[in-house]
Amino acid sequence: MSEKVYPVSKEWAERAHIDKALYEKMYQASIDDPESFWGEHGKRIDWFTPYTKVKNTLYGKDEVSIRWFEDGTTNAAHNCIDRHLETRGDQVAIIWEGDDPSESQKITYRELHDHVCRWANVLRNRNVEKGDRVTIYLPMIPEAAYAMLACARLGAIHSVVFGGFSPDSLAGRIEGCGSKTVITADEGLRGGRKVPLKANVDAAIARLPEGAVDHVVVVKRTGGDVAMEPGRDVYYNEAAEMVTADCPCEEMNAEDPLFILYTSGSTGSPKGVLHSTGGYLVYAAMTHQYVFDYHEGDIYWCTADVGWVTGHSYILYGPLANGATTLMFEGVPTYPSISRFWDVVDKHQVNIFYTAPTAIRSLMGAGEEPVKKTSRKSLRLLGSVGEPINPEAWEWYYKVVGDERCPIVDTWWQTETGGILITPLPGAIAQKPGSATLPFFGVKPVIVDAEGKELAGACEGNLCIADSWPGQMRTVFGDHERFIQTYFSTYPGKYFTGDGCRRDADGYYWITGRVDDVINVSGHRMGTAEVESALVAHPKVSEAAVVGYPHDIKGQGIYAYVTLMAGEEPSEALRKELVTWVRKEIGPIASPDLIQFAPGLPKTRSGKIMRRILRKIAEDEFGALGDTSTLAEPAVVDDLIENRQNRH
Ligand code: WTA
Repeated sequence: MSEKVYPVSKEWAERAHIDKALYEKMYQASIDDPESFWGEHGKRIDWFTPYTKVKNTLYGKDEVSIRWFEDGTTNAAHNCIDRHLETRGDQVAIIWEGDDPSESQKITYRELHDHVCRWANVLRNRNVEKGDRVTIYLPMIPEAAYAMLACARLGAIHSVVFGGFSPDSLAGRIEGCGSKTVITADEGLRGGRKVPLKANVDAAIARLPEGAVDHVVVVKRTGGDVAMEPGRDVYYNEAAEMVTADCPCEEMNAEDPLFILYTSGSTGSPKGVLHSTGGYLVYAAMTHQYVFDYHEGDIYWCTADVGWVTGHSYILYGPLANGATTLMFEGVPTYPSISRFWDVVDKHQVNIFYTAPTAIRSLMGAGEEPVKKTSRKSLRLLGSVGEPINPEAWEWYYKVVGDERCPIVDTWWQTETGGILITPLPGAIAQKPGSATLPFFGVKPVIVDAEGKELAGACEGNLCIADSWPGQMRTVFGDHERFIQTYFSTYPGKYFTGDGCRRDADGYYWITGRVDDVINVSGHRMGTAEVESALVAHPKVSEAAVVGYPHDIKGQGIYAYVTLMAGEEPSEALRKELVTWVRKEIGPIASPDLIQFAPGLPKTRSGKIMRRILRKIAEDEFGALGDTSTLAEPAVVDDLIENRQNRH
C-alpha cells in the first residue's frame, strides 16, 4: 500500500468545476436530501415532459424497486444529438481513429444526426419498434455509435456484444434477450488482423432455433467476402440508400430501458444488466463532466471498447449528452508501434485520456522511450478503470505519461452501477496511488463484515452501497428474482458490489478485488463458473475448477484445475487443445493461462470443492492453506502442491 499523497494543485483547484469546499457541500447535500439534489441535477438533460417525482426506490428484503424521475419523458438520442444541433451542429462529436494510422474521420453533430436518423430508418424498415431488442456485434467503428443511438432514437433496447466473444457466447446473448435483429460488420480490424464478425454471426444464428433472427444488417468495414443470406441479410449501405435522414425521436419514459449489457457473475450464465433511459443518462453525463472535469472544446479519449459498459457510458452517452468531442479508437495500443496511444494523443491533441491499468502495465514493460519520444503536451488529465491500479503502475502513468502534470482519476464502478461511484474529483480530492478515494455525489458506500455488520472508521470488509443512485441498473433482463438474489440477498437492505474494500483513516476507499467467484482478467470480468462449464464440455474432461491468480500484466490470470476422464492421459498437446477449446467456446479473453491436470480436487465430505485451497495453491501460497480438516481426502492436496503451475 502506498502512503504517498498527491495534493490537488492550486491551478487545478481554480480551474475545475468542483473544488474541495464545493465537493464537501454538494456531497453532504446529496446524502441529506437526495430528492432535492437529484431534482436539481436531473435538469441537466432535456425532458419532453418534466418529471415531478424524483426518487422512488426500495431496497427491501423480498422486493427491490428502483425508479428515478419516473413521470418524466425524454429520449437519449435527442439529448446526445438533436439538442446540440443549434449551438454546436458543426462541432466535431466523434473523432474516429482507425486501426491503420492513415485512416481517421471527424464526424460533426450534424453529420451524426444524419447518420443516426438513416440508421434508425433502416431499422424501422426491418420492423424494429419501441421495446424491441437489437443485438449489436460491431468493431470500434463510428457505425457502432450510430447503431446504438439509432436504437435509442426508436426506443429499441440495444444489447452490444463485445467483438471478441465466440459464436456460442453471441448466440446465448441473442437468445437471452430475444433479439430478432442483429447488426454486425463483414470483418473487424485490430492490430492489422481481421476478425470474422459476420461469419461468427452466421455460426451463432445456426445454433439458434429456426427463425430466431429475422434481420442481419451488415456494415462493410473491410469489404471482405462474406456469405449473405437472401431475405435475412442486408448491407447497411444498400439499405441506407432507400431511406431519408429524417426520423423523429420516440418519446420515452425515464424508466423505459435504454440498453442491456451482459456481464459475468459468480454463478450461472452471464446476466443481462438492464439500464434505464433517464436516470442512466443524467448520471453518465454528470459523472463525465465532473470526474473528467470536461470543459467546452476539450478533446476526450476513452480507450475502452463499446462492447463494455465503459464504452457505453464514457465513449458514447456521457460525453455526447454533454456535447463533447469524444475519440473512438479501432485499434490496439501496440500497433503499428508501442507508441500508438501517445501518437494518437499528439495527432488529435487529446486533453483527457482514460484507460485501464492492464494497458499501462503492458506498456510499462517496453520502458519510457516509446512514451518520451512523443510530446503529450495536450494532456491534462488521466483516468484509470476496470481493476485496481497497483501503485507502481500509477506512478509510471503519472510520471512517464503525464510528466507529473496530470492528476489521475482512479474510477471505481461496475456494469451494474451505470457510472462511476468512487473516484477522486481532480480539483477537489488529493490522490493516493492505488486508492479510488472518495464517493461521487449521492453515493453512500458502506463496508460490512461477513455477517453484514456495518464497520466504522478505518476497516476492511465487503463493499456495499446503502442507497440508490440514478445510474443504477434496474433489473436483470427477464429475471427480477435473480436481480434481488444476486445483489440484495447477501446483505439485506444494501446493494452488494461483490468487491472487497478497505477504508483508511482519511476515509479513502481502496478496492481489494472481487470477493466472489468472478475474476478480473485485463479489466474484463470472467465468471469462473463459465470457464468451468466450457472445460467440462470437452469430451476428455471430467471435472474442472477455475480460480484467479496474480498476473503481472493482466492483474489476474485464469488458473484451471482439470481432472480427466478415466483412461485419458495428461499431455502438452491436450493442454493446448483445452486452451483452444475454451477460446472457441467463450472467446479469446477467457483463455486459461495455466492448466494443472489434477487426479482429484479437494472436496469436503459432502462433495463441495474447497476453492479457498485451490486459490492458495494457484497463488503459490500453499504454506497458508488454513483449515484442511474438513477435507474428504487430504492427500489430494499434496499432489496439487507438488504439481502446481505457478512457481515464484
Ligand atoms: C473492478 C467496469 C478497482 C471491480 C467499469 C468491479 C475496479 C469490476 C475499478 C467491475 C477500480 C472496476 N479499482 N477495481 N478503479 N474499476 N473495478 O462490470 O472488481 O466490467 O466490481 O465494470 O471491476 O467490472 P465491470
